Amino acid sequence: MKKLMFIAAVAFSTAIFAQEIVTRSVQSYQTDSYKAKKKVFVEALLSKMTLMEKIGQLNLPSAGDFTTGQAQSSNIGKKIEDGLVGGLFNIKGAEKIQAVQKVAVEKSRLKIPLIFGMDVIHGYETNFPIPLGLAASWDMKLIQQSARVAANEAASDGISWTFSPMTDISREPRWGRISEGSGEDPYLGSEIAKAMVYGYQGKDLSLKNTIMACVKHFALYGAGEAGRDYNTVDMSRIRMFNEYFQPYKAAIDAGVGSVMASFNEVDGIPATGNKWLQTDVLRNMWGFKGFVVSDYTGINEMIDHGMGDLQQVSALALNAGVDMDMVGEGFLTTLKKSLDDGKVSQATIDEATRRILEAKYDLGLFENPYQYGDPKWAAKEVYSQENRNIARNTAAQSMVLLKNDKQVLPLKARGTIAVIGPLVNNSLNMAGTWSVGAKHANSVSLMKGLQDNFGKDVQFISAKGSNIDYSEKLENIYAAHGKLTDRDNRSKEILLKEAVDVANKADVIILAIGESAEMSGESSSRTHIDIPQSQVDLLNELKKTGKPIAMVLFTGRPLALTNVKDVPDAILNVWFSGTEAGNAISDVLFGKINPSGKLPVTFPRSLGQIPLYYNHKNTGRPLSPEKTEKCEYERFKSNFMDECNTPLYPFGFGLSYTQFKYGDMSVSTSDLKGNQTLQASVTVTNSGNFDGAEVVQLYIRDLVGSITRPVKELKGFQKVFLKKGESQKVTFNITPEDLKFYNSSLIYDWESGDFDIMIGTNSDEVQRTKITWNK
Ligand code: BGC
Repeated sequence: MKKLMFIAAVAFSTAIFAQEIVTRSVQSYQTDSYKAKKKVFVEALLSKMTLMEKIGQLNLPSAGDFTTGQAQSSNIGKKIEDGLVGGLFNIKGAEKIQAVQKVAVEKSRLKIPLIFGMDVIHGYETNFPIPLGLAASWDMKLIQQSARVAANEAASDGISWTFSPMTDISREPRWGRISEGSGEDPYLGSEIAKAMVYGYQGKDLSLKNTIMACVKHFALYGAGEAGRDYNTVDMSRIRMFNEYFQPYKAAIDAGVGSVMASFNEVDGIPATGNKWLQTDVLRNMWGFKGFVVSDYTGINEMIDHGMGDLQQVSALALNAGVDMDMVGEGFLTTLKKSLDDGKVSQATIDEATRRILEAKYDLGLFENPYQYGDPKWAAKEVYSQENRNIARNTAAQSMVLLKNDKQVLPLKARGTIAVIGPLVNNSLNMAGTWSVGAKHANSVSLMKGLQDNFGKDVQFISAKGSNIDYSEKLENIYAAHGKLTDRDNRSKEILLKEAVDVANKADVIILAIGESAEMSGESSSRTHIDIPQSQVDLLNELKKTGKPIAMVLFTGRPLALTNVKDVPDAILNVWFSGTEAGNAISDVLFGKINPSGKLPVTFPRSLGQIPLYYNHKNTGRPLSPEKTEKCEYERFKSNFMDECNTPLYPFGFGLSYTQFKYGDMSVSTSDLKGNQTLQASVTVTNSGNFDGAEVVQLYIRDLVGSITRPVKELKGFQKVFLKKGESQKVTFNITPEDLKFYNSSLIYDWESGDFDIMIGTNSDEVQRTKITWNK
């Protein structure tokens, strides 16, 4: 047998990270003289603009290369000439973009360049794992690097603005867009938000390879009732500030250049027209200085929310603090009248225009309107082998090993392996949702990855086994945006028999099942969060062959895997891992890379448990730890008669091919005062047979508070790489900053008292020590 080399996961990720890691906001590098020059320039330009030219800057039509909503704008070229367009999105290609820029810069009266946006969400043409998968890497350098690669590619092809990061906290697996965010945790979500902003924006936005980020969807989009997309949100302010707002704020603190308003309502007023949200919180409390863009026809949609006619809702949005109107042209068509009618002020229009001009100035567009988009650079940069190598490694680091009985994984590169499942030969579905820049036909399918990397040593034989779903109607809905699933119209019996015959000839089965790419993403809510029955039947049939089964799980959301988890010998959750999916999955299956991903979101046992999240409150009638552990019912306690309280896989969970042993946790002291620092340490030993990385997690519980506090909150994590046999002491430095929360007056501070400090391998398996900390 050919001996496979284990690549040191973390060492690998840092070795190829050629770009400098950024840790400060781009604004913090801007000098006073730069700011003064910008002010003079922007004010001079503003003073020359007509009212309609100002309103034009606030208009963001879609060019229509691809659409994400109902409407498209018409007559864009003419509008650009007339100075009625501030930016454009959904247009791809350096040459095309330069040609449009030329119209703005040469034909419009004031020659103001356009800003070109795109949903570069998890990569441009080189796609990285979906954001929920990226989050599972818990590797901030890798995440920053993925945004850097995306920015390089997008900028070389003409894009100066990305609608990312999406930082909506969600505890709602029914919601398809949970795939686009970083999961359920405010702390992890905040760290990722920063890493993404730094990656896109770098230290200097005016450089040709840095692009403006846009944190979205402000706010609370991930908390729609029943997980139905665009649905009503109703939440206490305590919860907003302590849980859902944190990652948006982290992006603001990291200097994100723009913010996108969300579709949903917040406190009874749509976010797009909510002044408390877009001005009082965002600007006055958090000090945001950039511009706010609506979501796609978000202003017009306030008509259906019941907020008035187009003129009314457009004025409402502008007065609330929204500066740019995406697609709907409510601003363009009504703001002049609203000014005449006294519904908006000149000063408000000027302020919005100023913010757009300042952003263009920061991007260096006035100096060189053509700096983004260079066909020669794009030819080298976009989808380059180097970028794909980075994507391949990142994808492997995002995979989460959920089960590995009898060490079925890593597979041995020999003999015959059956590769079965509806997406085994499907490259279109590998990149996952929101991959508008990708050329999907290029993505590496699972079968191709296996053949290319191990085809010399292993005989791979394959069968589809089942369709994604028994229902053709549903499968068509799932593939509505073009990520086809190659439905096989033979009967289910024939498909199953073919798969069983193939499996019988093999030593081991790789069974790839789960969701197809568009079962998650925008407008992709589901009421059933399990694997469709057609694929469960396939799994059960294959089990009868007695062959070991390594299940590869494709998913864009936490699935309830209760009915399948005992059947396969191993389960590797690969999410949708991007352009390099097939290669990266092969790397992990055969042990070239030892999996180290950890779940950024809870996987429930059943739909009825939702919402289920690790940082919940205790309630006045908590189930005892013993009953919780044994999954036993207790009358008049907070539990279910027919289901456990615990999840199937907790937040932070993920196995490795090796084992990590935790020594006893220690703290530097158990009695602290004021601004001291507490050290909490643990020694972690790689006691298994493979080199590997472990994410060591720190949680804190505030035992008594002026408001009820969660049973634990993530407050730190470190991903450490350990060679087999190696030990490392991992230390967390804890300060009062880590104890702060918003109290009922929304004051952010900490309170004296007792705290549980916890360290562990996931949110459930922790050691705990009690300390006292007084002011
Ligand atoms: C989505 C946004 C996206 C926008 C532009 C909307 O439908 O909600 O996340 O950025 O379209 O494509």
